[in-house]
Amino acid sequence: MSAPKRYTITSALPYTNGPIHIGHLAGVYVPADIYSRYLRITGNDVAFICGSDEHGAAIPMRAKKEGVSPQVIIDKYHAIIKKSFEDFGITFDNYSRTSAPIHHETASEFFKKLYEDGKFIEETSEQLYDAEADQFLADRFVTGTCPKCGNEEAYGDQCENCGSSLNATDLINPKSTISGAKPTLKQTKHWFLPLDQYEDFLREWVLVGHKKDWKTNVYGQIKSWVDDGLRPRAVTRDLDWGIPVPVEGAEGKVLYVWFDAPIGYISSTKEWADREGKDWEPYWKDKDTKLVHFIGKDNIVFHCIIFPSMLKAEGSYILPENVPANEFLNLEGNKLSTSKNWAVWLHEYLEDFPDKQDVLRYALTANAPETKDNDFTWKDFQDRNNNELVGNFGNFINRIVVLTNKYYDGVVPTPNEFSEVDLQTLTELRAYPGVISSSIERYRFREGSQELLNVSRLGNKYLADEEPWKLIKTDPERVKTIMYVGLQVAAALATLSEPFLPFTCKKLKSILCHSELDTASTWNDISTKEVLLPAGHQIGKAELLFSKIEDTDIQKQLDKLEATKKANEAENKTIEPQKETATFEDFTKMDLRIGTIVEAEKMPKAKKLLVLKVDTGINIRTIVSGIAEHFKPEDLIGKKVTVLVNLAPRKLRGVESEGMILMTETPNGKLVFLNPDEDGVNPGAVIS
Ligand code: 2FM
Ligand code: ZN
Repeated sequence: MSAPKRYTITSALPYTNGPIHIGHLAGVYVPADIYSRYLRITGNDVAFICGSDEHGAAIPMRAKKEGVSPQVIIDKYHAIIKKSFEDFGITFDNYSRTSAPIHHETASEFFKKLYEDGKFIEETSEQLYDAEADQFLADRFVTGTCPKCGNEEAYGDQCENCGSSLNATDLINPKSTISGAKPTLKQTKHWFLPLDQYEDFLREWVLVGHKKDWKTNVYGQIKSWVDDGLRPRAVTRDLDWGIPVPVEGAEGKVLYVWFDAPIGYISSTKEWADREGKDWEPYWKDKDTKLVHFIGKDNIVFHCIIFPSMLKAEGSYILPENVPANEFLNLEGNKLSTSKNWAVWLHEYLEDFPDKQDVLRYALTANAPETKDNDFTWKDFQDRNNNELVGNFGNFINRIVVLTNKYYDGVVPTPNEFSEVDLQTLTELRAYPGVISSSIERYRFREGSQELLNVSRLGNKYLADEEPWKLIKTDPERVKTIMYVGLQVAAALATLSEPFLPFTCKKLKSILCHSELDTASTWNDISTKEVLLPAGHQIGKAELLFSKIEDTDIQKQLDKLEATKKANEAENKTIEPQKETATFEDFTKMDLRIGTIVEAEKMPKAKKLLVLKVDTGINIRTIVSGIAEHFKPEDLIGKKVTVLVNLAPRKLRGVESEGMILMTETPNGKLVFLNPDEDGVNPGAVIS
C-alpha cells in the first residue's frame, strides 16, 4: 500500500441521449468506484468526478427522433442516469452536467486562453454540407466508408470498427444521416488544434514515460496513432447545440463536443470544490496529484491524444497518471447497443432485482472486460451469485454468525491457545489487504474481486476443517478459539468488501456491530492489528447477505432478450411486396364473414394446430387453425373472428377444415385476429 496522496479520478461523462446499461457500469463506473472507495478508505484525498455530457450531435438527433427539444432530452436522461449511479452506490464526489453555467464558463475560458496564446490554426476550408437540411455535416451527422478499414458505417469523427479517429472529409461515399443525401462541399471557417505539433510531446510522455505501467491496449493504440502521424483537428463545429465559440467571427459556431466534454472534468471539480469550500486547483495543477481517467476503449484517442494535447497547450495543468481503459462488454454473444435495445438497462435491472446491486457489481467485476472484450451472460450472473456470493461469502458469514449466537448469545468468546492452523489462518488473513491493494492499485479489479472471495474461502475451509459444530460437545474450550479466529476473518471481510460490495459491507458491518467497537479496524489494520473483533464484543443476529437466484428469474431475462431480438428482426423485415392485381370478380369470389368461436381444443399430437368450431351464421363448422402456439383454447371461446367461408375444404391430420380464420402479426411475432369490436356485428355478417 502506497503512502497517502491526492487523487483526481474521473470517469467518462455519459451522453444524455439514453439511460445507461451494464456495459457502461462494467467498463467505467464500477472500476472507477472500486478504485475511489479503496483510495478513500486507505486514507487518500480523493476527488471522484463525473457528470452528464449534454452537447454534441447525439442529443439533437435523439430530440428530433422523439419530437421534443434537446433540453427535454438532457433533463430526462440526466435525471435517469444520475439516479442509476446513486442506486448502484457509485460514490462520485460530484456529478455535474456540461449544460451548467460553470462548465460553459470554464470551457470558454479554456478555449480563449488557447486562442489568445496562438495555439490554434484558423482555417477556412471546404466541409461536407447537406443542402436539403441546410447544415454542415460532421461527426455523427455523416456516415461513409472508413478509408482505413473499409467499414461502410464509419462516422464523421470515428470508425467504430477499427477505432480510427477521422475527419468527416476522410469518409469515402459520405451520406448525411439527417436526410440521406449525398453531401456537397461548402466553405466554412474553423479553429484547429495542430496535433502534429504535439507528436514529440506525446511520444515522450506516454511512449517513453509510461511504457510499463499503462495497459497494453491503451499503449498500443497511442503508439499506432502517433506512429501513423497526427493531423490538425477542428475543435469547433457549425451547429446550434453546444457552447458558443467565444471569439469574434464565430457566430453560429460551437465548440466541438470532444473539446468541451473533457473540460467537464475540470468544471465538475470546480463545482465540487465551491460547494465543499475547497480549492480546486491543486486537484488539477499540483504535480503531486495523480490524475486517473476511467474510460471505455472507444474514448482512448480523446483522453490520450487530444485532451493531453489541450492540457499541454494550456500549460498549467497536470497530465493523467494513467488511463486504464477497458475493452467492451457484450451481452449474450452480441454487441451491446442502445439503438437496438440490446442491453440490460440499470433502471430495469433494479425493477427485477431490487436488492441485488452488489450482485451485478460483483458479476460485472469478476467478468470485467479488462484485457479483452467479454460476454455477460445471465447464466454466469446466476452462477456467480449462487455459487460465489451465496455459496461462499454468504455461507461463511451465516455459519459464523449463527454459531456465535447459538453458542455464546452473540458475544465474541475469549480464545485459548492458538493451534498451528489458527496461527496460519490468521497469518494468511493478514496478507490479504496487501494482496487486494496490489490488484486494485494495478487496476486489476477482476483479480481483486477474486482475492476477496478467497478470504471467505479461507474462512469456510477453516470452519470445515476445524468442525466446531462437532467439537462443541466434547471440547468447548477449543471451540471458543475456533469461533474467535473465524470471527476475525468475518471482521476482515467486512472491511475488505467495501470497494467491491458496498451494500454488503454495510449490512455485514451492522451484523457484526462494527460501529460499536471503540476503534473500528481499517483496511491497513487487518495486516497489523492482533485483534479485529475483541473478545466480549456483542454481535447482532444472522441476516442473509445474499439469496439464491432461481432459474425462473433468469428465464424471464432471457425471454426479454428474445423478444428484443424478434422485434429487431421484425423491424428489419422488408414489407412484403404487393401481390398481382386481383379483379373485382376475383375479390367477390371470396366469401368473407364474421364468425364466433364456440369450441376450441388442441389437435392431438400436433404442436401447432387447434380444432375450432366456428359459428359462421350459415352453420357451425370445423376449422383447423395453426395458432396453438399463440393461444390457449379456453381463451378463444366467444371470440369474434373474420372467416373465409368458401375456401375449398381440406383435410388436416384427418380432420376436415371448412374455411380459414384471417389473422395478422405484430412486429414481434404475436398473432392478432381481425375482429370487429362494434356491437351488433354478428355471425354471418358479410364483409364486402
Ligand atoms: O463516449 C461517451 O459517452 C462520451 N460522452 C464520453 C465523454 S468523456 C469526457 F471526455 F467527457
Ligand atoms: Zn475503420
